[in-house]
Amino acid sequence: MSFFDAFRKKRLEAEVDFDNLPVHVAIIMDGNGRWAKRHSLPRKSGHAMGAKTFEEISECAGELGIKIITFYAFSTENWKRDKEEVEALMALLEDYLDNGLQKLKGRAQIRFLGDMSAFSESFREKQRYIEEATKGNSGFLINVALNYGSRDEITRAVRGIAEDVKSGKISADDITEEFISSRLDTGGEPDPDLIIRPSGEFRLSNFLMWQGAYSELWFDKILWPDFKKEDLLRAIHDYQNRNRRFGGR
Ligand code: IPE
Ligand code: IPE
Ligand code: MG
Repeated sequence: MSFFDAFRKKRLEAEVDFDNLPVHVAIIMDGNGRWAKRHSLPRKSGHAMGAKTFEEISECAGELGIKIITFYAFSTENWKRDKEEVEALMALLEDYLDNGLQKLKGRAQIRFLGDMSAFSESFREKQRYIEEATKGNSGFLINVALNYGSRDEITRAVRGIAEDVKSGKISADDITEEFISSRLDTGGEPDPDLIIRPSGEFRLSNFLMWQGAYSELWFDKILWPDFKKEDLLRAIHDYQNRNRRFGGR
């Protein structure tokens, strides 16, 4: 790290109000492909670098004292990509399922968001094992969104609710906003306070569209593999200078 970067990081750390951190931060990990292109590397190298950034940022979010961090790792639409790229992404995800636990060293609870039925039984077995093994690590939760899309999540929730109404378990009057929230993949968690999207795109790409109704959005042109702790601090600092009104005055 250059002297200038170190200075900038120190100054940001001094300016961030650690008593007023966003409880739930969500990140769209975008820009791996462009990072690879910029470095004349294959796309899968961009994803490998992105996976490293995921580990670094999840670790520093825990150290900062953020309670929940959600990462968008693979969308319901990402299956459209070339077979080779999808396979490279799946290999990285499987590597995380195999080795993620050791790296966490008991510091975080892991939860997966998304439709897991698309994955092989052995993949789901590993994913369930991680969720089970980290259940007791309260205080810091990492959500990893895999084969996740907001519309798919809402569709699955609505289907489940309709079945419960049909079987008489609940009545139509029980369906409140809180109830719908509780039936989403993030059920039981507070909505994200801050949604971060690097890579220069200004869209949600089907991410947390219900939960993000009043989230503060932070966009930046930095590509995900280049994203560092100071960028997280920059986003948090900006967030702390926003005026959240929730429709009030
Ligand atoms: C994000 O990087 C990773 C996934 C979507 C899985 P991209 O692969 O979308 O990177 P760009 O947008 O092509 O740069
Ligand atoms: C969003 O990025 C999905 C993830 C980061 C996992 P995309 O690269 O798929 O989004 P679009 O295609 O630019 O909207
Ligand atoms: Mg992209």
